[in-house]
Amino acid sequence: MSEEENLKALRNTRGNKDASITRTEGMSTAEPVRPGGHAFPAPGGPFLAGEGMTGGYGRGADILHDCTIAVEKGQIAVIVGPNGAGKSTAMKAIFGMLPLRKGRVQLDGEDITGLAPPDRVARGMAFVPQVNNVFTSMTVQENLEMGAFLRRDDFSGTMEQVFDLFPILREKRQQPAGELSGGQRQQVAVGRALMTEPKVLLLDEPTAGVSPIVMDELFDRIIEVARAGITILMVEQNARQALEIADIGYVLVQGANAHTGTGKELLSDPVVRRSFLGG
Ligand SMILES: Nc1ncnc2c1ncn2[C@@H]1O[C@H](COP(=O)(O)OP(=O)(O)O)[C@@H](O)[C@H]1O
Ligand SMILES: [Mg+2]
Repeated sequence: MSEEENLKALRNTRGNKDASITRTEGMSTAEPVRPGGHAFPAPGGPFLAGEGMTGGYGRGADILHDCTIAVEKGQIAVIVGPNGAGKSTAMKAIFGMLPLRKGRVQLDGEDITGLAPPDRVARGMAFVPQVNNVFTSMTVQENLEMGAFLRRDDFSGTMEQVFDLFPILREKRQQPAGELSGGQRQQVAVGRALMTEPKVLLLDEPTAGVSPIVMDELFDRIIEVARAGITILMVEQNARQALEIADIGYVLVQGANAHTGTGKELLSDPVVRRSFLGG
């Protein structure tokens, strides 16, 4: 199969009916992907969107300038761009960790701009930050239990699903997370986020510091999560590889949208290639 056919096959299998890891009640029923695999806007707008986001830290200058990031239900959106472009800041803004001076954040048709992060978690958002995303002195299992702290129901089934997704974590469940390799820690961080049964998963550089093989594996697992119906928004340094699995991609430069398109469009755009993908 050519790379293009591969990608097409990948898209066409997305959005299947295996939603076992998701909380389906309250989810939009809008179908984001036509049988042909082309994205189109859902009737109520995108599932998750930060629209016209402007803001900075404390009383400091604006870091984000009218920045818009949106993703349709069950799709994978990827944010790329140079160091310091504001990618992590945009993720924090969408998660409610950065008050906006202008703009808004919408989730599943609801304006959540005024909500604090825990209230966003309660509405189905999970965030894996770029740094300090596991409790190193706690065991793998304890980390996953921490992820479920908001839940009142029995979460053992979700933990089994996380172990099915990342079998190495089942083996190492009694080990302190600090003893794991970088790639395994990232699995703990993603697994912990999945313990909330999110509708949307925000990942800030999930493959930072891992080998190319581990990176490919992590991307495969992320595709699997998206296929289960969980919307994915991630920031990635490995821009080329990430755009290959992206339904939609955003290139941010100095806190503003520089290029937006499907992963494929961005990968074949000469300007994007030259400036951001190393030719
Ligand atoms: N907590 C913070 N307080 C103040 N400024 C910050 C903070 N975090 C990031 N910045 C600044 O915001 C800009 C964007 O940073 P960041 O969003 O981390 O970029 P990226 O994730 O694209 O590398 C940088 O100039 C950085 O110095
Ligand atoms: Mg960052």
